[in-house]
Amino acid sequence: MSGQILVTGATGTVGRQVTAQLLEAGVEVRALTRGPADLPPAVEQVRGDLSVADSLGAAVQGIEAVFLVWPFASAEGLEAVLPMLAEHARQVVYLSSAAVRDHERQAEQLIERSGLEWTILRPHAFAANTLRWAEQIRAEGVVRGPYGQAAMSLVDERDIAAVAVRALTRDGHAGAVHELTGPHSLTQAEQVRVIGEVVGRPVLWAETSVQHARQQMLARGWPAEVVDGILQAQAEMTLGPAPVTATVEEVTASAARTFRSWVAEHAPAFRALT
Ligand SMILES: NC(=O)c1ccc[n+]([C@@H]2O[C@H](COP(=O)([O-])OP(=O)(O)OC[C@H]3O[C@@H](n4cnc5c(N)ncnc54)[C@H](OP(=O)(O)O)[C@@H]3O)[C@@H](O)[C@H]2O)c1
Repeated sequence: MSGQILVTGATGTVGRQVTAQLLEAGVEVRALTRGPADLPPAVEQVRGDLSVADSLGAAVQGIEAVFLVWPFASAEGLEAVLPMLAEHARQVVYLSSAAVRDHERQAEQLIERSGLEWTILRPHAFAANTLRWAEQIRAEGVVRGPYGQAAMSLVDERDIAAVAVRALTRDGHAGAVHELTGPHSLTQAEQVRVIGEVVGRPVLWAETSVQHARQQMLARGWPAEVVDGILQAQAEMTLGPAPVTATVEEVTASAARTFRSWVAEHAPAFRALT
């Protein structure tokens, strides 16, 4: 890999790590940003909006590969973006999802037909999703929600990024679909307990009714079909442990990071101010 890599979503959970790890590997990084972004000075920032294909002209000039985040609930618009990428780049690594919802499946299919050499990453739920509990944990040491027994093999964003960086910088990943998990399946109640153990005070899971959770999400303005999709997925996760794959270790030669180590890195977010 000699040319520059375009990182989309570079200010996001995974893209920020991809950017940092590419820089560490000595690779030149260009970030697609919608406005001035707080990124390392070595990163070239080029403005563009993924929802407006015409805005990407400057960002794609001279690039060799792309880390592609498609942060929308529909694949609409991707068909116009891919030819622009394919005109300049040789390769794309796409951040999909293990859930492979309809729009992610459509995006994967478009990418597979784009003419670019492709690698698809299908991560399971991110460990970083638990930051949504941080405020409740700091305020009262309790997380309220339905389906405490829903199990997930939470994956650390640094591991997703490490796999992306391997795929972007080494041979052998063309046409690969990498399903990525952390090393253990943990229920939501267990995740909360681990957070308490790491921050040094008990944190409890308080089960609420599905109906109550549904009302709360609707009150936030979320569409009913999205809310019902989330609740249905959580109900299915109570049926048994979540699958665990060996892919992170196989690709990076390092064991997948545990949820406990992720929490230790982010402990201040969960610690009450004293
Ligand atoms: N959370 C999970 O558990 C999970 C699991 C599997 C897969 N995923 C997938 O991961 C992806 C999200 O990744 P993430 O969590 O790393 O991202 P994120 O933290 O949600 O950040 C989104 C990124 O996309 C950028 N962005 C948003 N709209 C844009 C636009 N119109 N044009 C250009 N850039 C735009 C944002 O840039 P700005 O700074 O400009 O806002 C930001 O860098 C989604 O596709 C999701 O389906 C998530």
